[in-house]
Amino acid sequence: MFEKLTLRWKPWLRPLLDKIRYHEWMKSEMLQKLTASEPLTLEQEYSMQRSWREDADKCTFIVLDRKKWEEQACLDEDCMVGDVNLFLTTPEDPALAEIEVMIAEPSDRGKGFGKEAALMMMLYGFTKLGITKFEAKIGQENKASICMFQKLCFEELSVSSVFQEVTMLLCMGDQQKEWLLALTNHVTEAKYCETRQRIQQSLS
Ligand SMILES: CC(C)(COP(=O)(O)OP(=O)(O)OC[C@H]1O[C@@H](n2cnc3c(N)ncnc32)[C@H](O)[C@@H]1OP(=O)(O)O)[C@@H](O)C(=O)NCCC(=O)NCCS
Repeated sequence: MFEKLTLRWKPWLRPLLDKIRYHEWMKSEMLQKLTASEPLTLEQEYSMQRSWREDADKCTFIVLDRKKWEEQACLDEDCMVGDVNLFLTTPEDPALAEIEVMIAEPSDRGKGFGKEAALMMMLYGFTKLGITKFEAKIGQENKASICMFQKLCFEELSVSSVFQEVTMLLCMGDQQKEWLLALTNHVTEAKYCETRQRIQQSLS
């Protein structure tokens, strides 16, 4: 798992409450449908999160509301707005990854979190993991997600009528690299614990 984060992020893992909060989110039938997820028991959730943390083919970050996190020094579970994942789905093509974004609470949607999380994960995947092809699999009815990935320059690759799913793809050519780097030139990387400590000191 990665030790670094941008200010709005922290690596997925640990605090029990994070897991419980996540588990609470995933009880929503609507979210299960939108993210093509199965309902899990808390134990199953823990085991899945362990696999996200430990498996070399998965990369997951929790998305935090930076404003809340910085200005109020909230507990992480109070600043969590969602998660963003990369899955290396094809062992023979390590430059290809599936990207998933979830902004869990409807009240946190439409505020730019999803797009920014996706952009930051793409930057991370491209610069740190050597990913040059990003794929998104989206339910055909999920207009918000389709729109978001269109705005992120993904193009429709295929549609599965069986799964009622559209696959969208972004290949990182020179133009796309320039675009991604320009859109994320404000992103900085910092150690999570040190940043947290500094903020708490400045507020005390
Ligand atoms: C899809 C999702 C990640 C979008 O995140 P978000 O934070 O709400 O979206 P943003 O505010 O970052 O918007 C990103 C872009 O998508 C567009 N968009 C967002 N919601 C939209 C909607 N309901 N209809 C049309 N366009 C929409 C925005 O206009 C925006 O474009 P802009 O940059 O030109 O302004 C979020 O709605 C979500 O998590 N939904 C539930 C889970 C899910 O569907 N995950 C995706 C599984 S594939």
